Amino acid sequence: MGVADAFDAVAASYDQARRRLVPCFDAFYGTAVEVAAPPLRAALAAGRTPEVLDLGAGTGLLSVLLAAAVPGIRLTLVDAAPGMLTVATGHLAARGVPHRTVLADLTDPLPAGRYDAVVSALAIHHLDDDGKRALYRRAADALAPGGVFVNAEQVAGPTPALDRRYDEVWTARITELGSDAAEIAAARERMRHDRPAPVTAQCDWLTEAGLADVDCFFKEWRFAVFGGRRRIG
Ligand SMILES: C[S@@+](CC[C@H](N)C(=O)[O-])C[C@H]1O[C@@H](n2cnc3c(N)ncnc32)[C@H](O)[C@@H]1O
Repeated sequence: MGVADAFDAVAASYDQARRRLVPCFDAFYGTAVEVAAPPLRAALAAGRTPEVLDLGAGTGLLSVLLAAAVPGIRLTLVDAAPGMLTVATGHLAARGVPHRTVLADLTDPLPAGRYDAVVSALAIHHLDDDGKRALYRRAADALAPGGVFVNAEQVAGPTPALDRRYDEVWTARITELGSDAAEIAAARERMRHDRPAPVTAQCDWLTEAGLADVDCFFKEWRFAVFGGRRRIG
């Protein structure tokens, strides 16, 4: 089963397990929203509709949080799993958030546009490292001047020993939060598609892609939020 099929198979129940499987859920997604928000608020203040591109948007979790934090944005959601995008459309339509969905692979050209923010959560780690670097370059090119790229991501430990420790801590935390054996086994099955990279390497790739003010804004074990800003002029 490919990665899109693996997520489509759980699209209907995906949202319910998120707070268990991402133990730092509020700080993780909250930081991504905080990083993305300034250029969106600036566009609104200038009388423009802020444009946001969500890469690997899934059921629209990050899109919905962004739209709640900055009302008035317009979203473009890209994902290869049609069932996940159908759930996302339901969430956004119910909240009256203007959006379009694009069924595409993250290795495809990005939907045309100049975006005030390009955001992603827990998706880009499904690409190999060359794929991540190429996507970071395309994301940087798709930003409007002053726009922000932010990736809330599952990352690899910088050494094999730390990577094993990340996994031990994650398993202990999700068990404490109530994930049962079946939920953990299903998550591990989907994780066979994961190709995470360490956060420092990924920040270097964002700098290589031409972004400024690149930083890791949040990190708790394997969950990290990092990004950068397109220079003005
Ligand atoms: C763990 S979910 C994250 C969804 C959402 N961003 C969130 O934070 O809940 C990963 C999503 O990335 C999508 N995805 C993974 N690899 C992809 C690829 N190469 N092209 C397009 N979508 C991909 C999957 O279909 C899935 O919807």
